[in-house]
Amino acid sequence: MTEEGSDATEGAAVRKAGTAPGPPVAELRGAGKSYGTVRALHGVDLTVPAGRVTCVLGDNGAGKSTLIKIVSGLHRHTEGSFLVDGTPVRFDSPRDALDRGIAAVYQDLATVPLMPVWRNFFLGSELTRGPWPVRRLDIARMKETADRELRDMGIVLDDLEQPVGTLSGGQRQCVAIARAVHFGARVLILDEPTAALGVRQSGVVLKYIAAARERGLGVVFITHNPHHAYMVGDHFAVLRLGTLELSAGRDEITLEELTNHMAGGAELAALKHELAQVRGVDVHGLPGAAELGGTAGVTPGG
Ligand SMILES: Nc1ncnc2c1ncn2[C@@H]1O[C@H](COP(=O)(O)OP(=O)(O)OP(=O)(O)O)[C@@H](O)[C@H]1O
Ligand SMILES: [Mg+2]
Repeated sequence: MTEEGSDATEGAAVRKAGTAPGPPVAELRGAGKSYGTVRALHGVDLTVPAGRVTCVLGDNGAGKSTLIKIVSGLHRHTEGSFLVDGTPVRFDSPRDALDRGIAAVYQDLATVPLMPVWRNFFLGSELTRGPWPVRRLDIARMKETADRELRDMGIVLDDLEQPVGTLSGGQRQCVAIARAVHFGARVLILDEPTAALGVRQSGVVLKYIAAARERGLGVVFITHNPHHAYMVGDHFAVLRLGTLELSAGRDEITLEELTNHMAGGAELAALKHELAQVRGVDVHGLPGAAELGGTAGVTPGG
């Protein structure tokens, strides 16, 4: 524990310089997961520092959800190691992860649509007052706290009495983010929070991702969308077929390069080469090896 202490001080000093990230709160080292004979994830290195947004990108089936299920305690890794604050861990449930400050917000959010916003905010952790057996819900304090926490994150809702079901998808994500922050999350994992949202709503969610980072949380932002990732991300990890295809800091990669990776840049280049041999196929418009050369300086997994 003493070592961790000195690490943290060093990290804080470096962060003041404004460049290096804080010490990793969560870290995967060569981690992998097999479901029976299906190897969904293999040899993945990922660090989640405090006060940084780590984006995990990848196509369908790339292993994004599997990765965050390991970190959030829903599944156990079957290879490599998973460390929290530098100590190897093996969570039995999301509750274990939450006890260590790791909270995940899923697409379906586990909110109750018919209950008011404030009630959802405290779902499962209701505030009470008075001694047993006359203990009652402390409604006033819950409303007041939910209101303050939402405002602190810059989230303004007209009425906390309105059922969560009447909020937009983006607003619901925001309530879930503020809730995680209030209950002491240090790592916030968001699985495709913008996938079902329009441009404006996505912008709102991105704003709160940035707000969570400002509050010092380590955010893991899972997305298909390189544009959304690049707007808020400090580090980018691209998964392909269960392995880490790219791991790059913001200063090591441009949006174009990231987009190319997401579009399967290397595969497209190989396909272009093959297609060029086929009569009647015009490969001019396809990106080739030259256009993709810009990513050569970025080492996968580095
Ligand atoms: N419970 C499971 N049992 C067996 N195979 C699984 C299970 N969950 C995921 N897989 C497989 O693991 C691989 C990675 O899946 P995963 O859900 O992690 O991908 P993803 O990147 O989240 O995809 P998407 O973008 O579609 O959400 C896929 O081949 C998938 O079929
Ligand atoms: Mg998924």
